[in-house]
Amino acid sequence: MCGIIGYLGNRAAKDILLDGLRHLEYRGYDSAGIATWELDGFAVVRSVGRLDSLVEKLGAMELRGTSGIGHTRWATHGRVSEENAHPHRSCDGKVVIVHNGVVENFLALAAFLKEKGYFSSSETDSEVLANLIAYHCAKEVDQRGHSAFLEGVRKALLHVRGAYGIAVMHGDFPGEMVGARNSSPLVLGVGDGEFFFASDTAGFASHAKDAVFLNDGELVHLRGGDFSICTLSREKVEAARRAVEWHEALVEKNGYEHFMLKEIFEQPIALENAMRGHFSVDGSNTHFGGLQMSPMELRQVDRIIFCACGSARCACLAAEYLIERIARVPVEVEYASEFRYRNAPLDRNTLVIAVSQSGETIDTLAAMREARRKGFRVLAITNGVGSSIAREADGGIYQHAGPEIGVAATKSFTSQLCIAAMVAIYLGRLRDLSCEDGVEMVDALRQVPKNVEEILRLDGEIRSIAEEYANYENMLFLGRQSMFPLAIEGALKLKEISYVHAEGYAAAEMKHGPIALIGENCPAFFLACDGRMLEKIQSNIQEVRARGARTIAVISENCSAAASMVDRAIVIPQTHFIAQPILAAIPMQLFAYHMGVLRGCDVDRPRNLAKSVTVE
Ligand code: M6R
Repeated sequence: MCGIIGYLGNRAAKDILLDGLRHLEYRGYDSAGIATWELDGFAVVRSVGRLDSLVEKLGAMELRGTSGIGHTRWATHGRVSEENAHPHRSCDGKVVIVHNGVVENFLALAAFLKEKGYFSSSETDSEVLANLIAYHCAKEVDQRGHSAFLEGVRKALLHVRGAYGIAVMHGDFPGEMVGARNSSPLVLGVGDGEFFFASDTAGFASHAKDAVFLNDGELVHLRGGDFSICTLSREKVEAARRAVEWHEALVEKNGYEHFMLKEIFEQPIALENAMRGHFSVDGSNTHFGGLQMSPMELRQVDRIIFCACGSARCACLAAEYLIERIARVPVEVEYASEFRYRNAPLDRNTLVIAVSQSGETIDTLAAMREARRKGFRVLAITNGVGSSIAREADGGIYQHAGPEIGVAATKSFTSQLCIAAMVAIYLGRLRDLSCEDGVEMVDALRQVPKNVEEILRLDGEIRSIAEEYANYENMLFLGRQSMFPLAIEGALKLKEISYVHAEGYAAAEMKHGPIALIGENCPAFFLACDGRMLEKIQSNIQEVRARGARTIAVISENCSAAASMVDRAIVIPQTHFIAQPILAAIPMQLFAYHMGVLRGCDVDRPRNLAKSVTVE
């Protein structure tokens, strides 16, 4: 939610900031803005809408300043308008700030500041933060003189309750910049005599050599060609630098019309990468280097709780079916946002697993912190190398799916399904799963990238189906057993990308309510890939058809008997049940994509959404 960027160096800041914002725009796109320090003070330019409108507004404006900050907004406090866009300036004009997060006590702070003569002109919590910093810096200048900027920010933040990743500049200290974080991500980029702040490394990866991931409660001070890090309680922090990895090709569309389509087509590679190095030499088992748990400890686990949001949660629901069936370990899946506050009783041998593509989703992070606070071991499955979730987990597994820019989770979702399948095998082999069954499952997973390539060749056919269905406003997604979580994911994908109202249901459960929706205005999309459930799902298809609804179905080759019962069948390769969820996901992604495009939606940046949800 919201992308922030900062630059302090020798080059003109404007283009560097815009380039950074281009790579961070997936975090929010309600408005964008930059502030640079020019010879005569701050130049602040902001614009409602996508980054392109800001670029247009900046036009030929001659901004030569070599330091500046920028922001791309996902609105929380205050409607989408230019005055609510960032950067915000304090009312004395001295401080400019970009902020990602939510200041929960902003009303109390605003009332305090008003008494002191600091007024806000926008509806945002972030402008209050700018004023609070200006107020404390003014006090520090009176008392201390030159180091007052950092101290002013630090003191201001001591009064803030909530989440923030900020980059701040002060007109009295033009060669300096301060960044700080609490619960919202912030990374420092270090280049040759230049420094960057960004919400994630994508913001500066083409410029910086090293990255320093900040922890909550840390502040970075850029001054005199160097940087220093301290905590809110003024303790010095040693910076842990990591080399920045940058693959330009992965963050460009490479000829595809949208990132979402490109990322759907990247799935064979993303799946190869998820599996690389995880199969045992004899091909009967999987292993993971980063779990930080011995086989003995994992053998003691008698319950797993998955915490996640959105598509990552759907992947966990599929994991529940696989792990329970293969490893016979009871699994529960929690909405991370609910788990955090529910104070659920957990048994001693419970293992918590947080799953998050970005590794920055605040609800998942908070759920994980809550579990750790109670003394439970938490593993993470994430695509976000160096992300907050990766750093705070006790151990975990990286997805290595590569950057996912489209807001819809696609390759990250199937790579989570693939890791879940590998974890199920590993836990199973620690218990009762036979070597033979292990070999069969590993073989099936090895075939998955090829199977996915085959399914991707159905793209044209799936587009033609979407053409027939693009005018419907409602749709039900129905599946049984491990296809039920896929039905939920299919519905989520369709609604976020095409704004068609969709629900995912267990196919038999449909009869207990949702069937009332079924009719000529509400088609049903079935997932019929589980041979064991073929007859049951066929009955469900008949129930829907009997009520005049049109039907589409994703059908495995071994379930082809169901094909003649539906209006449109998408036949995918038959596979072992462990790999079925991965294969079934692909046609639904393509269907949602084409529906979105045909309905004129911005599929990479659907309305009201952001890729990484870093506010509660
Ligand atoms: O980065 P995360 O995996 O934690 O994100 C979780 C959800 O916000 C995310 O999956 C969201 O639901 C996607 N837009 C779904 O396509």
